[in-house]
Amino acid sequence: MDKEYWNARWENQQTGWDIGYASTPIVTFFNTFPDKDAKILIPGCGNAYEAAHLLEAGFTNITLIDIAPRAIAQVKERFTGQQIEILLGDFFDLKGDFDLMLEQTFFCALEPSQRPDYVKQASRLLERKGGEIVGVLFDVTFEKEGPPFGGSAEAYEQLFEKEFTIRKLEPCYNSIGPRQGTELFIRMAYKNG
Ligand SMILES: C[S@@+](CC[C@H](N)C(=O)[O-])C[C@H]1O[C@@H](n2cnc3c(N)ncnc32)[C@H](O)[C@@H]1O
Repeated sequence: MDKEYWNARWENQQTGWDIGYASTPIVTFFNTFPDKDAKILIPGCGNAYEAAHLLEAGFTNITLIDIAPRAIAQVKERFTGQQIEILLGDFFDLKGDFDLMLEQTFFCALEPSQRPDYVKQASRLLERKGGEIVGVLFDVTFEKEGPPFGGSAEAYEQLFEKEFTIRKLEPCYNSIGPRQGTELFIRMAYKNG
C-alpha cells in the first residue's frame, strides 16, 4: 500500500477507521502525562483528532505526518494558525527526535512485512530522547485481508522486545465501544544499549 493507495482511500472517503474523535485510551493517558512540552509524533495521523485534543489540553510540541496529500490538506486547514508541525511524507523517511510516538491505527495499516522496519524507525526517532511509543494495537485476527492487519500480544512482544522495554502491553480497559475487547494498550520505552 503506497501513497496512491492511501490517497485514493481519502479521496473516495473510504475511511472506516476514522472514529471522529480522540480515542479514549489515548485521552486517558494524556490526562495524567505531566510534560506539556514533550515532543510528540503522530504518524499516519489521518484526521488527527488526538492532536486537536492535545492542543486543547495545552501540549505545545506536536508533529503530524501522513503519506496521503488529501489527509494532510484537510489537517492543515483544520489546524490553521495553531502551533503544530504538519508534514506530508512517509513515516519511514522521517528524521527527528521525539519523546513520544502515538500509536492509533497506524501500525495496523502497514503490511505485516513492514513491522520490523516500523520498530527500527521508531527506535531511531526515539533513541536520542529515550522516548516511548504509547497507544493502542489490535489484539485480534481480522477475517478479511487487511488493512487493518491484526496481531497478538505474544507477536508484538517478540517484535518490540529487542529495541524496547515493554512497560505496558495489556488488554485495553477503556477502548471505544466498537473496539472493546480487541485492543491492547501499549507503552514501550526505547531501550538504551
Ligand atoms: C488506518 S489510517 C489511521 C488514521 C488515524 N491515525 C486514525 O486513527 O484515524 C492510516 C493512515 O496512515 C497513513 N499512512 C499509511 N502509510 C503511511 C506511511 N508510510 N507514512 C505515513 N503515513 C502513512 C494513511 O494515509 C492513513 O491516513
